[in-house]
Amino acid sequence: MILITGGHGQLGTELRHLLDEKNIEYVSTDADQLDITDKEGTYKFITEMKPEIIYHCAAYTAVDKAEDEGKELDEKINVDGTRNVAEAAKAAGSTLVYISTDYVFDGNNKDGMYKVDAATNPLNEYGRTKLLGEKAVQEIMDDYYIIRTSWVFGIYGHNFIYTMQKLAETHDHLTVVNDQFGRPTWTRTLAEFMTFVIAEKAPFGVYHLSNENSCSWYEFAKEILKDTAVEVAPVTSAEYPQKATRPQYSVMDLSKAKVLGFEIPTWQEALASFLELEAKQ
Ligand SMILES: NC(=O)c1ccc[n+]([C@@H]2O[C@H](COP(=O)([O-])OP(=O)(O)OC[C@H]3O[C@@H](n4cnc5c(N)ncnc54)[C@H](OP(=O)(O)O)[C@@H]3O)[C@@H](O)[C@H]2O)c1
Repeated sequence: MILITGGHGQLGTELRHLLDEKNIEYVSTDADQLDITDKEGTYKFITEMKPEIIYHCAAYTAVDKAEDEGKELDEKINVDGTRNVAEAAKAAGSTLVYISTDYVFDGNNKDGMYKVDAATNPLNEYGRTKLLGEKAVQEIMDDYYIIRTSWVFGIYGHNFIYTMQKLAETHDHLTVVNDQFGRPTWTRTLAEFMTFVIAEKAPFGVYHLSNENSCSWYEFAKEILKDTAVEVAPVTSAEYPQKATRPQYSVMDLSKAKVLGFEIPTWQEALASFLELEAKQ
């Protein structure tokens, strides 16, 4: 059996749809069925169920709130919650798939793209707690995949694309930061990779998975709104202050995933597929 945590989130929902298409059975949970911050409850649920695979998609994802009012909850969910899931997974003999983030890096890599073994140094609370989640998984388990991803967008959640589209309804002119570079990731590509590593029995360890090519948020916004009359102008991060500091260059090296034979679409291709799907909804 397969267990999904955070099954109603942006990624969890995409994964459920993919598993449905593949006729693979699973049990999907959210906080009301399986609150990962409840240590005993999580242990009981997972050790009784003994899932072969756990796709751990539950997380605290409010990056700016994690800096202050959400700080405690961020730690509780991303660190303690992940440790609870990993300890129960170990006892149940499950393989754990944990999703992490490019925000474990500081964005000052002088050598170019971040390889899976590059030094981590998170700049914000969310990145710090996701990294502690990674460390908990690595300390507790042997049978794990840690998949770091970035700039996630999907049909089923809140994300940058929907934010831009919403703003475009009421603005003729938008400004977007042009000095933070990364790789957008379609939840569909990520969910496919999550099922791919299991199906192919890929070696356990850390992987990076996002769509191919990189861009700034400004370039991403331009592409999202290219068929509208809205004018998008570049600004610096200093002109658009946010509570959480973001890495300036968090482009991750995808070669470890590609060596497995996994085909990764470009973010432009992924965005086009997303927009096509969105238009049909
Ligand atoms: N979104 C991004 O840009 C991004 C970038 C890099 C990495 N990631 C990682 O990708 C993964 C999936 O993210 P996402 O975009 O799908 O996030 P999401 O839409 O915020 O989904 C997270 C899910 O976790 C659930 N959850 C929160 N607290 C929980 C608890 N105590 N017990 C059980 N479930 C709980 C949430 O339920 P409620 O809604 O009921 O709280 C929600 O369904 C996460 O690990 C995230 O850190 C995301």
